[in-house]
Amino acid sequence: MVLKDTHILLGVTGGIAAYKSVELLRLLKKAGANVHVAMTDAAMHFVGKTTFEVLSENPVLTDLWKDTQSSVTHIDIATSVDVALIAPASANFIGKLAQGIADDALLTTMLAVTSPIMVCPSMNTDMYQNIRVQRNLDILEEDGVHIIDPDDGVLACKTVGTGRLPEPWFLVDRLVALLTQKDLKGRRVIVTAGPTVEAIDPVRFVSNYSSGKMGYAIAQAAEKRGASVTLISGPVSLDPPVGVECIRVESCDEMAQAAISCLDAADIIIKVAAVADYRPMDIAALKIKKHQDSKELSISMTENIDILKRIGELKTKKQFLVGFAAETNDLEKHALAKMKRKNLDMIAANLVGSHESGFKADTNKVKFFFKDGGSKDVPLMDKHKLAHILLDTIIEQTG
Ligand code: PMT
Repeated sequence: MVLKDTHILLGVTGGIAAYKSVELLRLLKKAGANVHVAMTDAAMHFVGKTTFEVLSENPVLTDLWKDTQSSVTHIDIATSVDVALIAPASANFIGKLAQGIADDALLTTMLAVTSPIMVCPSMNTDMYQNIRVQRNLDILEEDGVHIIDPDDGVLACKTVGTGRLPEPWFLVDRLVALLTQKDLKGRRVIVTAGPTVEAIDPVRFVSNYSSGKMGYAIAQAAEKRGASVTLISGPVSLDPPVGVECIRVESCDEMAQAAISCLDAADIIIKVAAVADYRPMDIAALKIKKHQDSKELSISMTENIDILKRIGELKTKKQFLVGFAAETNDLEKHALAKMKRKNLDMIAANLVGSHESGFKADTNKVKFFFKDGGSKDVPLMDKHKLAHILLDTIIEQTG
């Protein structure tokens, strides 16, 4: 959404990681961006200009004297882009950019860029750690350039260390974060997500179908909007969103402990997790064997702590508490009762049980209810988009 129709300057400098810029360009185009590529001579030793030309559907700038359609093409590009992304950025490029040197088409263009700049260094570990390279990176950072630290791993030169260009999806993620309005900056957000699992014996448990998609989308959106985010997650197969502190838990008790210990510092608490209301009274120490003489097995259950209700009791007036209600019937009646019983500021009620909304689905349909009696219907949509609407609504409510 954020990258759609944005104009991006993708600068590619000399390094083996230049091959990753091809995939990066593909992802940017897929996200709807209009990408102008500028390459250094060294970059063209690694990847051909034609590849970028075909994929970007724009001419590629490599030479101020040959590529320009008018004498000011580099200025036109510099002034029209919403962001400049240099990936990979070589030590040579970083040094020259830091010093304001403009001896090729990319560097000359960069001197005229007034929009945000993201530089992604990639090189041999010793080169990256060289004091002069680090000094140049510090200069760029002080100038307001966003530096993406390289990853650790095996490098093309067989060195094991820091210097790998992060994967293209990660660079796109950080670019989206850079371009997203920081309307949650300075706020601390706790999100709970996924199911809890309540052990029956060493190999079995009681749980539910929550995939974590809704909670993870909210945590990811809040991080991009500048919040410090703690995600308390039950077992799911998703990777934690970039930049989010993730605390993994299993049971309701563990989730309660984690949520309550983070509570004091939080401004906004969003409880998306599908917490088990009951757990087996006793956890068998050994695997329960199949009974040969009975077709039935009963497991006695005992009530779990209601984490949301406990937080509702503990929260201060300044903290904004949001619950989710998963209902199969009488959505409004049950959601309103939960909001009152648990002292919530807002509840997001979703009808569950269909393949397109609620558990496991990529989309969700919710209705927000507010403590003051108001409500807001949100149509069926992708959970990532819904996450932003939920955060917009919280911002409206908290001022
Ligand atoms: O994870 P996904 O596959 O993307 O699915 C998303 C979702 C359907 C799980 C999510 O949208 C949702 O509805 N989450 C709430 C699920 C739920 O447990 O609802 P509930 O009505 O049983 O609980 C109401 C609220 O109390 C919830 O905020 C829940 O986190 C909280 N609760 C419930 C029981 C308990 N012991 N402690 C709690 O804190």
